[in-house]
Amino acid sequence: MSLTSSSSIVESTPALELASLLDPVCNEMRLVEKWLESNLIDDSPFVASLLSQIFRAGGKRIRPGLVLLSSRATSPGCGELASRHIVLAVLTELIHTASLIHDDVIDKASLRRGQETVNRKWNDRLAVLVGDLLFAQASICLARLMNPVIVGIYGQVLGDLCSGEIKQMNHQYVCKVDWEAYLHKSICKTASLFAAGCHSGPILNGANDQLIAAMKDYGTNLGICFQIIDDLLDVTGTSTELGKAAGSDLVHGVVTAPAMFVLERQDEPARRLAELIKSRTVSHPDGIAEALAIIRENGGVEATVRLSRDYAQRSLDALCILPSSPFKESLASIVDYLLMRTH
Ligand code: FPP
Ligand code: MG
Repeated sequence: MSLTSSSSIVESTPALELASLLDPVCNEMRLVEKWLESNLIDDSPFVASLLSQIFRAGGKRIRPGLVLLSSRATSPGCGELASRHIVLAVLTELIHTASLIHDDVIDKASLRRGQETVNRKWNDRLAVLVGDLLFAQASICLARLMNPVIVGIYGQVLGDLCSGEIKQMNHQYVCKVDWEAYLHKSICKTASLFAAGCHSGPILNGANDQLIAAMKDYGTNLGICFQIIDDLLDVTGTSTELGKAAGSDLVHGVVTAPAMFVLERQDEPARRLAELIKSRTVSHPDGIAEALAIIRENGGVEATVRLSRDYAQRSLDALCILPSSPFKESLASIVDYLLMRTH
């Protein structure tokens, strides 16, 4: 497969399974799973069983997979990894899961990864504390790496996650289209952790600055692409497909790419969509159904797919610097995998 041609990222891709893309690092992935199963212990059996339920609920494990693939793709001779790479992959998943548990509190969400959320099954206070507990476990992992540069990178990620959420909150029900603000929020919420995961392994490997920068660039653009597709699926997907409530962004007044493409047209459908959002009619079943129909019927979906492809291509371009290896191939195929979710 060509890693630079845009033809590699469109229609012709056969069905891709994420598990098969992570195959080149399947032994390392097993160690990550084992860590999550056996190290998240707590002296309260209730908390211990809660943590085990959270990780048994699954999740795609795309972030630890990216950590391991980027680590191997940049290790000397693409050789085997050290245990600190496993710890890096684990802590990346811990931070991701913790942030989703907090996000579900903020969104008052009931369903995540096809299961009842912690806030729904128990309550918000417990969910906040369980999220904090996972952040604490991630900090212990971070300390074990004994690398101050990586501590700084992940410290920045934690700040970015919070500031991305705050930016999103401050923009609820706002219909003025600001692409720069949307992009910045997406980088904070999502791409910052992807980028950290993709370039911290190369740092541990002692890779040169150019290689580290390329892997950061890959992770940033892939993360932006991922968030754009997440925003798209909120409009096009069903709750069963997503394992979480569909259509919930607009219901909460969160205006994302599919709606923004319609709003910027400034025509009659755009005016009606803005009215539904500003009046908060979108928070009612009839209002959200009408808003989603306007987005689907006025090119919001197609334009968002094109935007996601643009960032996908940028992430593929960043991989050119890597030597050929199965790990590089998988990093490229993960881009196709994300785009496939738009079909
Ligand atoms: C999901 O996005 C949410 C995130 C990617 C980040 C959430 C971050 C926080 C709540 C802050 C975390 C707190 C600390 C202390 C670091 P989404 O809502 O677009 O996706 P969804 O549809 O899956 O909920
Ligand atoms: Mg959410």
